[in-house]
Amino acid sequence: MKKLIPLILVSTSMSVLLINCKSSKSTTASIDKQVPTEKEVEVYKKINNNITLADLQAGHKIYYSKCNTCHQNFEIVSFSEKKWRHEIDDMSPKAELNAEEKNKLTLYILSYLAANKTQ
Ligand code: HEC
Repeated sequence: MKKLIPLILVSTSMSVLLINCKSSKSTTASIDKQVPTEKEVEVYKKINNNITLADLQAGHKIYYSKCNTCHQNFEIVSFSEKKWRHEIDDMSPKAELNAEEKNKLTLYILSYLAANKTQ
């Protein structure tokens, strides 16, 4: 009996891991990822001088609360700027964003993309 308990614990945590692996696609990301930092602020300042970290944090919050009700959050670096601008136009009405929310989401997505894309 003593030996059985750790065995059960190991096998339950293994199956939890397996379930997690199955359900996560490579194009999806969780809330602790894609967090904006001063790095994104610096990049975006070249385009929009008034941007603050608080704006990007607000955009991040919108993305992870309003853009994952129908599908999971996508990896930002998976899509081009052109694709994101198109999708944000398409999706903002679906997520019922007001103009300010849409603006903050756009700033967050595009600055994160510019700061983190590899090519
Ligand atoms: C009411 C449901 C709904 C909400 C809310 C929603 N989406 Fe979507 N999204 C969809 C559907 C359905 C598709 C696929 C078909 C299409 O493009 O219309 C999609 C597709 C996408 C795609 C394209 C993925 C690909 O592989 O080409 C992106 C990017 C996207 N959504 C981003 C967002 C963002 C950003 C938000 C928040 C502003 C959002 N979505 C909110 C329903 C939703």
